[in-house]
Amino acid sequence: QKDGFRFFMEKEIYEQSVVISDTLMGRLREDEVVFDELDSTLFDGINEIKLCACGTSYHSAMSASYLFERYSKIKTSLEIASEFRYREPIMTKDTLFVAISQSGETADTLETLKMAKAAGLKTLVICNVDNSSMVRVADAAILTRAGIEKGVASTKAFATQVVVFWMLSLYVAKLKGSLTKMEIAAHISTLREVPSHVKVDDEMHERIKRVSKRYLHGHGFFFIGRDIFYPLALEGALKLKEISYLHAEGYPAGEMKHGPIALADPELFTIALLPKHLHYEKSKSNVEELSARDSTICAISQIPFDKADDFIEITTCESYMLEFFEMMVVVQLLSLEISIRLGNDVDMPRNLAKSVTVE
Ligand code: M6R
Repeated sequence: QKDGFRFFMEKEIYEQSVVISDTLMGRLREDEVVFDELDSTLFDGINEIKLCACGTSYHSAMSASYLFERYSKIKTSLEIASEFRYREPIMTKDTLFVAISQSGETADTLETLKMAKAAGLKTLVICNVDNSSMVRVADAAILTRAGIEKGVASTKAFATQVVVFWMLSLYVAKLKGSLTKMEIAAHISTLREVPSHVKVDDEMHERIKRVSKRYLHGHGFFFIGRDIFYPLALEGALKLKEISYLHAEGYPAGEMKHGPIALADPELFTIALLPKHLHYEKSKSNVEELSARDSTICAISQIPFDKADDFIEITTCESYMLEFFEMMVVVQLLSLEISIRLGNDVDMPRNLAKSVTVE
């Protein structure tokens, strides 16, 4: 069943191009996004979107918060399900509550969905499993169509969630008139390019295998990025932690100087996300500060970065969202290769289960 791949995680990384095409299928018109499963009245009277999830799904939710505020011009807040459940949150009826889950069974997320419903909020779930508990509880559901995900470390589920959120931000932008038809059409043509940008290039995979050798025995990793690349940094760090058991943190690049830079030395590994089309100069200067303090730097960018100890080049692209998906594949493969070099069982990481159905 692994079709010649060493692990399900690897197979699922390679499947991303196909499953993203499935996610897009039938949902894109020339200048609008359609979701047959959604009734647009769901958004009537809504002034805020509240996103709630755990783990990787929380990271895709965080990515969504950038897209909703930037394109849909709607106030968006973000919650970790296990916190939301117990902190006596204020819920107002002009808020659309959105739960995100690959499995649709995560206990904490399911409970928050029930709480939001009980408080009279409209609810939506972004989920990969039809007829799961969350799909049954929510008022509406959008399926991510990633197919069965076996690897405990989620990859293709994350990719399809972000694609759904990008489409949903355009759907809401149309309803609210926050983007013009031409702007939406431009996004749609970029969305159509995503499948080709997540295709794994053999040469790049070989390069990542070689690069991974340097990153096995440090005292820690910082994955850093700005804006929507910050949740991607969090996701990269989570992937690495889960399957390599190395300490890794995702950090907003501009925040490093407020404390963490004190850790910098050659044994501190910085994985720098440097998109050309979003805050490049700002992010670059943050990485230079770390390099000046001797952190070992692995830069991921389409612009060569001479301060890097290792440089992983992504394909030339004209949109920061395409850079996002290109870099997503790189951080997934980097975690995979580090874990394999350390001799771990990538698909069965210690202490973890695929679905967390207990509190
Ligand atoms: O099924 P869910 O999306 O609700 O699962 C949430 C998390 O348990 C899950 O994303 C977990 O963090 C993954 N192992 C990450 O790779």
